[in-house]
Amino acid sequence: MLETLTELTALRARVATWKREGLRVALVPTMGNLHAGHHSLVELARRHADRVVASVFVNPTQFGPNEDFSRYPRTPDADAAGLEAAGCDALWLPDVATMYPFGIEGAVQVRVPGVTSVLEGAHRPGHFDGVATVVARLFLQAQPDVAVFGRKDYQQLAVIRYMAVELAFPVEIVAAPIKRESDGLAMSSRNQYLSGEERPVAAMLHATLLAMRDAFLAGDEIGAIEAMARGRLTAAGFEVDYSVVRRPDLSEEPRGAGNWVALLAARLGKTRLIDNLEFRT
Ligand code: PAJ
Repeated sequence: MLETLTELTALRARVATWKREGLRVALVPTMGNLHAGHHSLVELARRHADRVVASVFVNPTQFGPNEDFSRYPRTPDADAAGLEAAGCDALWLPDVATMYPFGIEGAVQVRVPGVTSVLEGAHRPGHFDGVATVVARLFLQAQPDVAVFGRKDYQQLAVIRYMAVELAFPVEIVAAPIKRESDGLAMSSRNQYLSGEERPVAAMLHATLLAMRDAFLAGDEIGAIEAMARGRLTAAGFEVDYSVVRRPDLSEEPRGAGNWVALLAARLGKTRLIDNLEFRT
């Protein structure tokens, strides 16, 4: 049975009871409008813990002024049903006043340096400060032993790993693989903004990542690969924010052996999509 908790005292009491029983507790932070990608995080959390808490909170501080905070899809009933089916034990559903007791203006903020200044961070100023600020709160509220995040948001995962080490959160960070539609499009709450014509075109993002990996493995230089990807996507009607091949820590390096990640961010009509593909030589 899924238990929905909206009061911090109730969440604390539930988690404390589990911990007294010696149970390991996992947290899966989300913004709701849950799809199979989110459900796969809950299933992975189950394998790392005895009890799973999922949070649903559309966090205002991580949306820019021209982003989709007010129209971000909110589907609480379907979310609860999906979480229950995925094996979740508790749904943490705080309101804004619980998350930010002194209001957003009065919020103590967590700002992660370095990795937040490039790619998504450069295109969405303040976004990762909002993410770090809310995830720190979620960790302190739920006090999980382990927290699960998706590789879909590759840079977000890096920001959270950095924060967890830097602030010494006693939380193990687990990364979940990207869940995709059958044509390769990474699942995302934003996919539903795509029009009927745009939806098949959106699958080009993943196809382009595969082409980037293949070009790398065939020996192409990184600059040429990035330009090829940008050209393909632009020709298909995307407006490209970035198309890059980076080391796993997102640093730029000339091609060489080891681990790499290709990352794309592009707008199709009004919808901004991100995706990535990790590979090794
Ligand atoms: P949200 O976009 O709801 O995503 C919640 C979690 O689901 C994130 O860890 C994200 O990486 C993961 N996820 C989304 N789509 C996925 C997919 N197709 N495959 C695998 N994992 C996927 O990310 C956020 O919310 C917020 O920034 C949050 C961390 C909750 C802070 O507000």
